[in-house]
Amino acid sequence: MSNVRQTGGMTESADRRLSARALSEGDPTGWFEPLYAEAALSSDPLSAVPWHRDIPNPLLVEWVETHPPTPGTRAIVVGSGYGTDAEYIAAQGIPTVAFDISPSAITATRERFPSSRVEYRAADLLALPPDWAGAFDLVIESLTIQSLPPEIRAEAIAGVRSLVAPGGTLLVIANVAQGVPPSPPWPLSRADIDAIASPELELIAVEAFAQPGHFLGARWVAEYRRVS
Ligand SMILES: C[S@@+](CC[C@H](N)C(=O)[O-])C[C@H]1O[C@@H](n2cnc3c(N)ncnc32)[C@H](O)[C@@H]1O
Repeated sequence: MSNVRQTGGMTESADRRLSARALSEGDPTGWFEPLYAEAALSSDPLSAVPWHRDIPNPLLVEWVETHPPTPGTRAIVVGSGYGTDAEYIAAQGIPTVAFDISPSAITATRERFPSSRVEYRAADLLALPPDWAGAFDLVIESLTIQSLPPEIRAEAIAGVRSLVAPGGTLLVIANVAQGVPPSPPWPLSRADIDAIASPELELIAVEAFAQPGHFLGARWVAEYRRVS
């Protein structure tokens, strides 16, 4: 996840610096808000966050184009960052909620898309609003599970699973683990992808796509369906 770009006013290793501190203090989610808050003070906040993209994730776009949403679909985007993927989903005519643990990310996203139809919320995947349980027909989780250390992965996965409505779909996009995982992120092995499934959440399809030139290599796109 380390950023190799020089960004407006920030050192190139802000994510490494802040994550190392939070992890050493036993607070594995405690670096996201400082990162976005620091970015907000820089001359170019969007490029100060290493995972930000101005265009929606091409793997998400390809999946949506091949799995057109049915009328009435309600979607939620986990760890929505600056909102690019959530805006893409909402642009398909899907009522969309998107959340991030960082209030600064949510504030910046609302400013970025002042007329957005997306309901942006600051919320923690590890302590979700109770009324979100089973409320979404399409749950999009891109790169958030892998941004949390293995010790809390089960908790994060439980949170993601809890959002899926009966009959609903969970889409997981994550980097493919290659040997010893860097930290962060902690890319997922095929066994990790399989372990997201449960008796209620069936793995429907999984494929690894090459990401030419990306420092973390290939990415999984995994689709799950809640059967009950
Ligand atoms: C690696 S970024 C991925 C952003 C985006 N989903 C993407 O695909 O580019 C992880 C995002 O998840 C957010 N995040 C991390 N832990 C979270 C948590 N416990 N609850 C909600 N969001 C979280 C971070 O603030 C960050 O925006």
